[in-house]
Amino acid sequence: MSNAYRTWQEWETFFAARSTRHLPSLKQDIDYSVLPDSLARSLAIFQLGESGGGTIVAQSFCNSLPGINNHFGTSMAYFVEEEHRHANILAMCVRQLGGRLIKSNWTARLFVFARRLIGLRLKVVVLLAAEVVGLCYYHLLAMRLPASRLRNQLLEIVEDERSHLYFHCDFLRTQTFSRFRKFVFVVVWRIVMSSAALVVALDHRKAITDLGIGLKPVLERWRAFSRLAEMLVVSDSQITCRQAREAGTDLPS
Ligand SMILES: [Fe+2]
Ligand SMILES: [Fe+2]
Repeated sequence: MSNAYRTWQEWETFFAARSTRHLPSLKQDIDYSVLPDSLARSLAIFQLGESGGGTIVAQSFCNSLPGINNHFGTSMAYFVEEEHRHANILAMCVRQLGGRLIKSNWTARLFVFARRLIGLRLKVVVLLAAEVVGLCYYHLLAMRLPASRLRNQLLEIVEDERSHLYFHCDFLRTQTFSRFRKFVFVVVWRIVMSSAALVVALDHRKAITDLGIGLKPVLERWRAFSRLAEMLVVSDSQITCRQAREAGTDLPS
């Protein structure tokens, strides 16, 4: 049944190897005061979004879905730990930028609401949308920052999010083994991804403008990665998917 690119045991080994990384030092290495306040606010919202996700681990161990096993549950536990590591790093970034952490935000609440509403498969669809949104946005932010530890940390998180995207696609691929399931996935995915893009673009518009990124490149990047994720889940061609995956999609500077 499993049609994933990596086995769950391979994912477990992959995540385990990364789980020993220490938190970096973000001691101020450049003058961050030149950066707009909206950047700290934007990162504080993402920091909140990276902090949750505990219930999905229990659900990953305890379910009757096809194509998964205990290695998948352990991999999911490592994945959640990795997101918490991102939350810790982003908290340091926000403090270095002179910003304040937040406890509540409407977009973070929307993502939590969507994740709680539904079963494991749809939860992973929501997580996949968050990965696409996060990895493109962090990369666009990093490309606008001067060389600094903050920039390097954002780029490291981008690489983590890229592997999370593949991890979630591998899971969804095992769940969409018929033409009907693929069709349902595409419909749901496009709705979830478009909604996520819309609310995040709205909530982060100030940082997007202040850093001179512009809304169009953000939306284009999200659309490209959204298509990649869709193809990785539903394409029948292992070769096409493998090539796309190896190319990792383009992240231009
Ligand atoms: Fe993350
Ligand atoms: Fe992630």
